[in-house]
Amino acid sequence: MLLQRLAATILAGTVSGTLATRETLRSALRTATDSVHRRLERGLLLSDPRLSKADYRQVLAAYYGFYRPLEARLAWVWPAGLDAARLHKRLWLAQDLQELGLSACGLAALPHCEGMPPLRDESEAMGCLYVLEGACLGGQVLLRSIQPRFDGEGGFRFLEGYGLETGRMWRNFLSCLNDFQNRDERDQQRLIASAVATFETFERWLALRECLR
Ligand code: HEM
Repeated sequence: MLLQRLAATILAGTVSGTLATRETLRSALRTATDSVHRRLERGLLLSDPRLSKADYRQVLAAYYGFYRPLEARLAWVWPAGLDAARLHKRLWLAQDLQELGLSACGLAALPHCEGMPPLRDESEAMGCLYVLEGACLGGQVLLRSIQPRFDGEGGFRFLEGYGLETGRMWRNFLSCLNDFQNRDERDQQRLIASAVATFETFERWLALRECLR
């Protein structure tokens, strides 16, 4: 698969070289979310080689309708020690949509996902953030596959994400995640359940917004 080869090239040496001490909770998260991640990787319109500009805008609009309410909720339970600058991906999406021609009124009128995971505390927030921060890794891969097709046109701020800082930001996130390994086993289970719920809610929302093949 082209995307897999790109992933190996881009992320080699930055993402997979995590410390052994981080493995337990992180690998439990990977295992629990593996099947939904695979479904999204395969099914999301973004990975379709026939993706049109209109499809791209439709997917970004659906992402905005998910990230906006989720980030508003995350702000209330933001984990201590985690850089709050991570909490503005909706602004990147808004910028992209406006560059793709959506007016401020159009942006405000976009539908929002309802029935979000509860996010009652830092553990649940951290599970949700695992999904949003991890999505930046795939974003780097998608950027390199999609941007050349719409060369010279805007609308890539979200996929650019942390850019060259992606590997460092991910390792920093994993280091915060590592701190949760010292917590009560039930908190860790709730963290994992929250990651699964975030992924599955997103998948349902993307299906509803016709962004899956
Ligand atoms: C076409 C879509 C996607 C592609 C091509 C893709 C690709 C990737 C790649 C290459 C990685 C790094 C894997 C590694 O280092 O082992 C990754 C990790 C990850 N992605 Fe995706 N991804 C996609 C969609 C998504 C979406 C929509 C989400 C969530 C909203 C997501 C969440 C994650 C997470 C949480 C990880 C971290 C897994 C770990 O613990 O290593 N991905 N993805």
